[in-house]
Amino acid sequence: MTATTPPSARLHRSELAVPAIRPELFPKAAAGPADAVFLDLEDSVPEAEKDRARANAVAAIRDIDWGSKILAVRVNGQDTPHFYKDLIALLEAGDRLDVVMIPKVGDPREVFAADLLATQIEAATGRARRVGLGLVIETAKGLAQVEAIATASPRTESLHLGVADLAASLGMRTTAIGGLNPDYASPAGLLDPWHFALARLITAARAAGLRPIDGPYGDFRDAEGLEASARRARAMGAEGKMAIHPGQVAALNAAFQPDEKEVAQARRVLAAMEAGRLEGRAAVALDGRLLDIASIRQAEAMVAKAERAA
Ligand code: COA
Ligand code: MG
Repeated sequence: MTATTPPSARLHRSELAVPAIRPELFPKAAAGPADAVFLDLEDSVPEAEKDRARANAVAAIRDIDWGSKILAVRVNGQDTPHFYKDLIALLEAGDRLDVVMIPKVGDPREVFAADLLATQIEAATGRARRVGLGLVIETAKGLAQVEAIATASPRTESLHLGVADLAASLGMRTTAIGGLNPDYASPAGLLDPWHFALARLITAARAAGLRPIDGPYGDFRDAEGLEASARRARAMGAEGKMAIHPGQVAALNAAFQPDEKEVAQARRVLAAMEAGRLEGRAAVALDGRLLDIASIRQAEAMVAKAERAA
């Protein structure tokens, strides 16, 4: 990645969750193949351990070599007494932290508030690099206002679907985190109960130039279910997917890797469009199909992603 690559273009096929009360897992996550890692201060940390988890995350930002990964920390929500302490401690820990992930975002004003506080802390500490925001959409309110939330701060890089909390907030009858439900089916087979939420999140993220990231698949021993879930999300436009176990990461990297045939085809599209441009035409035919400006954008995005993955 070059210094000028916009944040939304970063490779983000897999994002591994690591509870910040288990620092023995940090070096394993750093050495593993996940494109992004998030240290969690929120729901994997019991109330009594919040301060210790925060201190662990601060030390991890300073002391561990995270290579070229996207390093994120999921802070506690703004409805808790921990949010401001989390943000201050993390932004005072130096420049390596890429993204603050905010859970349960329900209103664009929360994003504005986080941006304001981050701007203050950065001004006070002389942080060299603006921290990004990753927003977890996992409540009915958040999903209902996702478009406004997506555009509330120029710091925002990605939207993440929080499936377990969303199911609770919507009153969904789920049997497995991110999985299917035998009750939600047509005579032709099982339907995907996450389709609407994911489609809505992807639409809002793409419209705002952000990376849409699908939520985790909780049953980490079900490789087939994970792959099917990742393929569905990819087919709909997701950039990547959260992992709750390192055993899920390789499958996600493979699922969200642009495939060679698609990349080769994208290069052919660009070549045909370039040839057309030299002849003064903006619409050309390739293999009996119309190509136009929109085809170039898709093809360019595909080639750029393949180059980053290589
Ligand atoms: N990050 C890095 N390494 C991890 C890891 C993680 N999130 N989860 C497990 N590992 C390591 C284990 O330490 C173990 O390493 P070893 O082979 O050196 O002993 C190996 O991967 C296999 O782990 P396993 O024994 O199968 O898992 P576990 O029982 O230790 O933990 C979970 C299972 C689900 C509790 C754990 O993966 C986890 O906490 N995941 C994240 C949950 C989370 O953050 N949820 C909130 C966000 S959605
Ligand atoms: Mg959640």
